Amino acid sequence: MPSKASGKAKVYTFAETPIMRSFIPSELPVAKAHGLLLGAIGPRPIAFAGTIDSEGNPNLAPFSFFNVFSANPPVLIFSPARRGRDNTTKHTYENALKVKEVVVNLVDYSMVHQMSLASCEFPAGVNEYEKAGFTMLKSDLVQPWRVKESPAQFECKITDVLPLGTEGGAGNLVICEVLKMHFADHIFGDDMRIDQEKIDTVGRMGGNYYVRAHGEALFEVPKPGAVPGIGFDNLPEDVRLSKFLTGNDLGQLAGVSELPNETDVNEWRLTELSDLFVSLEDDPPKLEEELHKSAAAHIAQGRVHEAWLTLLTFNN
Ligand SMILES: Cc1cc2nc3c(=O)[nH]c(=O)nc-3n(C[C@H](O)[C@H](O)[C@H](O)COP(=O)(O)O)c2cc1C
Repeated sequence: MPSKASGKAKVYTFAETPIMRSFIPSELPVAKAHGLLLGAIGPRPIAFAGTIDSEGNPNLAPFSFFNVFSANPPVLIFSPARRGRDNTTKHTYENALKVKEVVVNLVDYSMVHQMSLASCEFPAGVNEYEKAGFTMLKSDLVQPWRVKESPAQFECKITDVLPLGTEGGAGNLVICEVLKMHFADHIFGDDMRIDQEKIDTVGRMGGNYYVRAHGEALFEVPKPGAVPGIGFDNLPEDVRLSKFLTGNDLGQLAGVSELPNETDVNEWRLTELSDLFVSLEDDPPKLEEELHKSAAAHIAQGRVHEAWLTLLTFNN
């Protein structure tokens, strides 16, 4: 039963709806809904799943309905779906029901075309490790083989297989508990953490698109500290409504837990901004614009504190 509202909830006004294209999935052909979901929800990591059938024949196929869902216990889930075309099931799904073990291998850029080749609908019993030119590596705790070329390999027991439906396009969640994980030595940095540039993983996007996680595609967003940020509601109005600060700029400004004090702001104005204040003494709107642009430049360089000092000089 829904809990009874206390009557104290804040009343929100509704923003004007922007131009959107909206759909009820059940009113669309499955292929159309599939295309919209996969075109929007990406990049998706790829589980390159090694399984065996009940005779011990190896099978290897990629699945981008995949992620990690728990660290303790360590759980991965991927989904070999029923084909939208004819409602048939995939070998990986059939194998997972019979032999409850899988190796989930990750896919890096160097192996992406071979991985794609392995996704062909080869007949049952065909060994995709061989077909796609991968090296079968014996696992330590489970029967299916690892992919030697993969930078990260997870030996798993399958704890559950959950069908999400019976029609074409229905997913089947294969819930995998990681028993042992192997990582290529070359993906570690000097600090013994996995170096996000070195692992060079690829993600699946819509249609034929993939993304490679390296170079300029990688950037850092520092985790918020233990003390919550001040939030947008505590941004001074001239900052919140600034024409020169983006949503990303404001997100960083609102992420600080406290603002610089008045003494520091005055000191900053005297040491760093006195020329600007003198030159634009008679033009406050232009001064405000220059201060906001300067704050944006500080944020772009990761100097959020200096951005705040700059912004607060205006009305100080
Ligand atoms: C990158 C990539 C991701 C894929 N992700 C999925 C997926 O999440 N679910 C799915 O059912 N099929 C997915 N496929 C298609 C399967 O890999 C394909 O149907 C394959 O033939 C299944 O092999 P199997 O019958 O040996 O299990 C994907 C294909 C590629 C290339």
